[in-house]
Parts: sequence; C-alpha cells; structure tokens
Amino acid sequence: MSSPFIALMATGILYAGIGHAGNATCKCMPNDACWPSPAIWSTLNDTLSGKLIQNIPVAAPCYPGPYSNPTECAIVQENWMNTSFLSEYSIGYSYPFTQSCDIAPGNTTNCELGDSPVYAVNASTPEDAVAGVNFAREWNLRLVVKTTGHDMLGRSTGYGSLEIWLRYLRQGISFEEVYSETLLYGQNEPAAWNGSAIEVGAGYDWGDVNAVAAANGVIVVGGGCPSVGVLGGFTQGGGHSRATHDFGLAADQLLEAQVVLTNGEQVLANRRSNVDLFRALRGGGGGTYGIVTTAKIKAYPDAAYTAQSFYMAPLSTSHDDLVVFMEVIAILYEAFPALADDGLSGYGAWSAYNVGESINASMTYIFAAREKTVAEIEAMFAPILEKLLLYNGTNIELVVSYMAYDGYWDYYYGLGGGTCSAATTNSALVSRLFTKVNLSNDGEKLRKMLNNTVGTPSEGVVNGFALLGGGPVSVSDTFSGVNPAWRKSYMHNYCTRGWSDDAEYETVMSIHHDLTYSKGGALREFAPDTGAYMNEADWQDPWYLQDFYGENLPVLTAAKIKFDPDEVLYCPTCVGSERWTSKVTGALCRAP
Ligand SMILES: Cc1cc2nc3c(=O)[nH]c(=O)nc-3n(C[C@H](O)[C@H](O)[C@H](O)COP(=O)(O)OP(=O)(O)OC[C@H]3O[C@@H](n4cnc5c(N)ncnc54)[C@H](O)[C@@H]3O)c2cc1C
Ligand SMILES: *[C@@H]1O[C@H](CO)[C@@H](O)[C@H](O)[C@H]1NC(C)=O
Ligand SMILES: *[C@@H]1O[C@H](CO)[C@@H](O)[C@H](O)[C@H]1NC(C)=O
Ligand SMILES: *[C@@H]1O[C@H](CO)[C@@H](O)[C@H](O)[C@H]1NC(C)=O
Ligand SMILES: *[C@@H]1O[C@H](CO)[C@@H](O)[C@H](O)[C@H]1NC(C)=O
Ligand SMILES: *[C@@H]1O[C@H](CO)[C@@H](O)[C@H](O)[C@H]1NC(C)=O
Ligand SMILES: *[C@@H]1O[C@H](CO)[C@@H](O)[C@H](O)[C@H]1NC(C)=O
Ligand SMILES: *[C@@H]1O[C@H](CO)[C@@H](O)[C@H](O)[C@H]1NC(C)=O
Ligand SMILES: *[C@@H]1O[C@H](CO)[C@@H](O)[C@H](O)[C@H]1NC(C)=O
Ligand SMILES: *[C@@H]1O[C@H](CO)[C@@H](O)[C@H](O)[C@H]1NC(C)=O
Ligand SMILES: *[C@@H]1O[C@H](CO)[C@@H](O)[C@H](O)[C@H]1NC(C)=O
Repeated sequence: MSSPFIALMATGILYAGIGHAGNATCKCMPNDACWPSPAIWSTLNDTLSGKLIQNIPVAAPCYPGPYSNPTECAIVQENWMNTSFLSEYSIGYSYPFTQSCDIAPGNTTNCELGDSPVYAVNASTPEDAVAGVNFAREWNLRLVVKTTGHDMLGRSTGYGSLEIWLRYLRQGISFEEVYSETLLYGQNEPAAWNGSAIEVGAGYDWGDVNAVAAANGVIVVGGGCPSVGVLGGFTQGGGHSRATHDFGLAADQLLEAQVVLTNGEQVLANRRSNVDLFRALRGGGGGTYGIVTTAKIKAYPDAAYTAQSFYMAPLSTSHDDLVVFMEVIAILYEAFPALADDGLSGYGAWSAYNVGESINASMTYIFAAREKTVAEIEAMFAPILEKLLLYNGTNIELVVSYMAYDGYWDYYYGLGGGTCSAATTNSALVSRLFTKVNLSNDGEKLRKMLNNTVGTPSEGVVNGFALLGGGPVSVSDTFSGVNPAWRKSYMHNYCTRGWSDDAEYETVMSIHHDLTYSKGGALREFAPDTGAYMNEADWQDPWYLQDFYGENLPVLTAAKIKFDPDEVLYCPTCVGSERWTSKVTGALCRAP
C-alpha cells in the first residue's frame, strides 16, 4: 500500500463515444430511453471481471418471489438494527428515510428498491471505481458513493443510480511509526508531520483501525461507533470523536489521499498536490469531489485518561422538580466551556419526560480528560457541584463517579464506545453548534432556548450534546475544508423526535416542521452566527448551504467545479446539490 504514487491516466475509459448521454438536463433513469440496455450493463460487468451487482433489498428473502428464503429472512429480521450487518449489503442503510422493503411483509405490499441504487460496482481495486465513474459519466447516470451506508442525510443512496460500493476496497491497514509522506518526483521538503500515521484503504471501518491503533499504542480520531467508515463521510465531513478535544476533528487528521476523479484519473491530494482537492476532502463533505481509495491519517501517543460519569434525574414529575431539573441543565451548559478549557470533553443526552419505555427523565454524560487525575477533575468540578448539591435529595437525584484508565482504548471500550444501533425511518433531528460566549455569557437566552428544546411531555424530545470544541478544534490549518463554525464552537447540540410506525403522514410532517422551525429555530436564535455539523443535522434544513459549509462554501464550490466539472457526483445537501432538483423516487434534473 505504500507504493509510490503513479498518475494513471484514465485507464478505464470504456466508451469513448458520446451520444449515450440522453439529455443534459436530467440524469438518465431506469425507464428512460437513454438507460443502458442489459447488454451494455454486461459489458461493464465484463470490465469489472464480474463485480457488478444488480441490487436487491436486504429484506428480499422475507418476501415471496425468487429471493424468498425463511432462514435468511430470520437472520435479516434479527439483525435489522445491526449497523455492522447492514454495512455488508450494497444497499444496507443504517439511517434510511424511506423503507420500500421492510422486514415485516404486509406493511409494504411490494418489496422494491425505492430510492436505493439499481446497480453497484463491488469495487475491490481503485480501477474498479475508475470503471464505474467512467460508465456513469458516459451514460449520464446518477452516481452514488457508498462505504458503510451510515449516512444520516441520504447521501449514500439515490433513486435510479449506479453505486460505487467501497466496502470491499480493503487493500490493507498499515501503521507507520513515523509518517512517510508520499512524494512526487522532485519534491524534497521537510515533512508535514513527524508523528505516527496509519494508512487505510477506503473499505475499512473504525473497528478495524481502532484495533491497529490499540496494538501500536496510538490514538486515532475515530467515532464512537466502530461500524462507521474511516475515510468516507466521517473524515470528509468533519468527524467528531472522544479524541477530538485533544487532537482535532477527523478531517484535520487527513495527511494525504489517493482519489479517483470523475474523469477517471487517479490523483494524489495532499498539501503539495491538488491542494484545493485536499482541502475539500478535509471537511467539505463526502461523495462530492471524488472517490477516496486510500489515505493516511495522523496517530498520537496513547496516555492515561480519567473519566467523569454524571447522572441526574428529577425526583418526581412535579412542576417544581422539573424546573430544578432544567435549571441544573442550564448551570451545566453554562459551565461546560470552562470544563472543556480545563481538558474535559465527551458526550451526553437529556430528556425531561419519559420517552416511551426506554428513556426516563434524566441527564447523563460521560466526559474524560487526558493525563488528569481523579483529584484534579474533582477540583475542576467542585464549584459546579456545590451549586448542584443544593438540590440533591430535595428535587433531583445526583450521582457523579470517576474512573481512571491507563490508556485511551480502555476508556473508549470501557465506557460505551463500541456500541451503536441503526435507526428506523421513524425519527428526525436538528442540530446546532454553540460557542463559548453563547453558552456562558447570556443565561437568560440559554434558559429560553432550553425551555423550547425540552419540548412537551407528548413530544418525546431527546436532546443530546457533544462537548468537544476548544483546544485544537479552534485551530484551522491552511488546508481545512471544515465548516469554520466548528472553529469557534465548543458544543454540538442536537434535538431528536420520533414517531410510531402507524403515525399519519400529517403527524410526521408536523414533527419535521417542529424540529426544523420551532426547536431548530430556538437553537438558531440562540447561536445565530454559527452553523450545524453536516453529518448529524436536519436533512431538510432550508439553509443548509450556510449552516453546513459557512464561509468555506465559495472555495468548496470552486473545488467541485474544478474536480467534477461534469457533475457526475450528486448527493443531497452536498456542495453542488443546489444546482439540481431531485425527487425521492424520480428524476434528478438541473435546477431551472
Ligand atoms: C450509529 C452512528 C454513529 C455515528 N457516530 C458518529 C460520531 O461519533 N461522530 C461523528 O462525527 N459522526 C458520527 N456519525 C455520523 C457519520 O459521521 C456519518 O453518518 C458519515 O456520513 C458516515 O460515513 P460512511 O462513509 O461510514 O457512510 P456512507 O453512508 O457510506 O457514506 C457517507 C457519505 O460519504 C460518501 N463517501 C463514502 N465513502 C467515500 C469515499 N471513500 N470517498 C468519497 N466519498 C465517500 C458517501 O457518498 C456519502 O456522501 C454516526 C452515524 C451513525 C449511523
Ligand atoms: C429530459 O429528461 C427528462 C426526464 O427524463 C424529461 O422530462 C425531459 O422532457 C427531457 N428533456 C428533453 C429536452 O428531452
Ligand atoms: C456480473 O457477472 C457475475 C459473474 O459472471 C455474475 O455473477 C453477476 O450476476 C453479473 N452481474 C450482473 C448485474 O449481471
Ligand atoms: C451484527 O452483525 C455482524 C456482521 O454480520 C455480526 O458479526 C455481529 O455478531 C452482529 N451483532 C449482533 C449483536 O448480533
Ligand atoms: C406492521 O408493523 C406493525 C408495527 O411495527 C406491526 O405491529 C405489525 O405486526 C406489522 N404487520 C405485519 C403484517 O407484520
Ligand atoms: C463483493 O466482493 C467481495 C470480494 O471483494 C465478495 O467477498 C463479496 O461477496 C461481494 N459481494 C457481493 C454482494 O457480491
Ligand atoms: C519534521 O522534522 C524535520 C527535520 O527535523 C523538520 O525540518 C520539520 O520542520 C518537522 N516538521 C514538523 C511539521 O514539525
Ligand atoms: C418554560 O417557560 C414557561 C413560561 O415562561 C414556564 O411556565 C415553564 O415552567 C418553563 N418550563 C420549564 C421546563 O422550565
Ligand atoms: C423508567 O421508569 C419506569 C417506571 O418508573 C421503570 O419501570 C423503568 O425501568 C425506567 N426505565 C429506565 C430506562 O430507567
Ligand atoms: C446525592 O444524594 C444522595 C443521597 O443522599 C447521595 O447518595 C449522593 O452521593 C449525592 N450525590 C452527590 C453527587 O453527592
Ligand atoms: C452567540 O455568539 C455570537 C457570536 O459568536 C453572537 O453574535 C450571538 O449573539 C451569541 N448569542 C448568545 C446567546 O450569546
């Protein structure tokens, strides 16, 4: 995997002729005359040595027809919420918005592809990806890139599309004690990074890379869920981690990447070559500029971590206890930036009402700090605890405990890292980034915002937060495509609601509306000039270009135009998507 970079010029161009392209206004869809015939698809399959898949829904074994298979159906039913299981399917999605083939036949009359891609290139080499992009470009097809299908904004799916599936592009993971920079001929400058690095192929997930990192005594900035892909949407869209407060966002860790462009070329993107592409890949969003086939990311020396585990719940459902519960949350939110400056960071969630049977009114979080003792963290927390203890036993129950770990991975796997669950189609979320000033300097605005996002007993709102900003997150290098809002923010805060399987269409629409405009409106009013983390955000955000990309939008748009001039790649809310209009199951056409 560390072979020197070789510029392969469009090795896989199959169809030099033009004229297949249908019309330039819309992408060719399965029922259009311009859609390739089976014989043409089979020539692509030949080029791919048989790696072209005609996609079938994951739950197809549960339906009558050629794929019916009760044994397989039982396995699918058992694993329907298993993100690792879904990753192994070309059209397995952990956060689907629509479900055209559910596990329980009867709820959907037919098992159909819905908005999933029609064909997938099961890429195991970069050349397979090249063949796929060339075919999509020549035939004017909608092209989608997918690694694990964890995307929460529908960016790795698309009706009537050809998919480049990267899950099996796994040509190795290698640890470099000292980063070895891939140099082009004639380059001989000081290294960009003298620390360790890990070279990763596109198909690997964090579970794979965490294991290599742990074995070599280093930390990598990966997600809490091991089945999330390393180089796809996570790293390209920002990527926050328990290690982010110490080392920055995942996008900041990208040292260099090998990329298949939509003209079929393979290029190196780093701080010397294709710098604008490098920048776009470091936080400008996945699935937009090119297909990353392998890359190197930074790794850091392991160290001891000490965690603080926090639990707080109202003693009763009385109004007084609820008011105190909310006041305690406000006190904590106000104090969080100072705790972060002292080295603490982590994740938490709260809800004021019993939500279904699974979540009772409570707030929980787990924070940790690198190279700090329990006594040091207790001292940091003492002034806050003093305020909270006033209510302990009278209105709230409060439990705070500490755990010391010898290394990061003990902390990560010891406290809930390593678990994840897929979602059903019955939930939505809205999020916002908060600055230190927002959180700590205007208690009245803070309480007003919390009073809105808490929701009502019947709304079943769950709020969550990631206290990860400050420190290295505040520092942007010259090659960053990350939403600049991250640089001034301390906290990523989200608000979710769900609905039952039998909810009416109107109910679902009104919940979406509430999240986007009411809850989301309160978050926006509280932090008007920040933005949102694109990977965990409202997929219907009407202001997504500003919220997800901020002041980087012009440079990212320039990179999109330069590296994908034919706009072969499209994904909803991605840079360039504003030039298209799409239907969930229908045409994808240029915006008028
Ligand atoms: C259970 C769960 C836990 C999560 N935890 C976290 C977390 O802790 N921190 C966090 O920051 N986010 C988290 N996320 C959000 C996560 O960052 C996004 O869902 C991300 O898009 C997943 O990337 P993927 O490549 O695995 O998914 P996919 O759905 O396969 O792809 C996502 C996007 O990246 C593109 N893409 C994929 N691979 C490539 C590639 N090689 N080259 C170019 N484009 C590519 C796709 O086209 C798509 O646009 C979580 C999501 C889930 C479902
Ligand atoms: C282009 O394709 C779209 C969808 O297939 C169709 O509605 C439209 O009429 C076509 N335009 C032209 C000029 O052929
Ligand atoms: C591609 O070829 C392989 C091997 O010949 C075959 O199994 C597969 O079904 C083909 N794919 C399609 C879409 O026809
Ligand atoms: C989830 O699926 C993976 C891959 O199929 C499997 O290895 C794992 O055991 C499953 N997890 C559970 C909890 O069943
Ligand atoms: C349809 O979904 C509902 C809700 O999940 C479930 O109770 C019901 O059993 C399903 N119907 C069938 C036929 O499986
Ligand atoms: C995809 O390719 C891999 C080998 O690279 C193979 O193991 C796997 O079965 C293929 N998946 C499908 C659905 O064809
Ligand atoms: C890496 O080390 C070399 C040689 O000591 C030095 O010139 C270079 O500036 C260092 N790079 C960084 C980023 O520290
Ligand atoms: C929210 O504000 C209203 C009116 O100002 C107040 O009556 C209510 O108690 C507050 N709710 C909470 C949970 O603090
Ligand atoms: C929530 O409360 C109910 C009733 O008080 C209890 O039975 C249930 O176990 C609680 N759930 C959790 C997750 O604590
Ligand atoms: C809150 O009070 C309970 C009951 O007295 C006690 O067990 C608990 O330790 C107190 N919490 C804290 C953080 O001191
Ligand atoms: C949030 O911070 C921005 C500046 O970063 C400021 O314009 C806005 O007024 C702040 N809001 C609050 C509630 O502090």
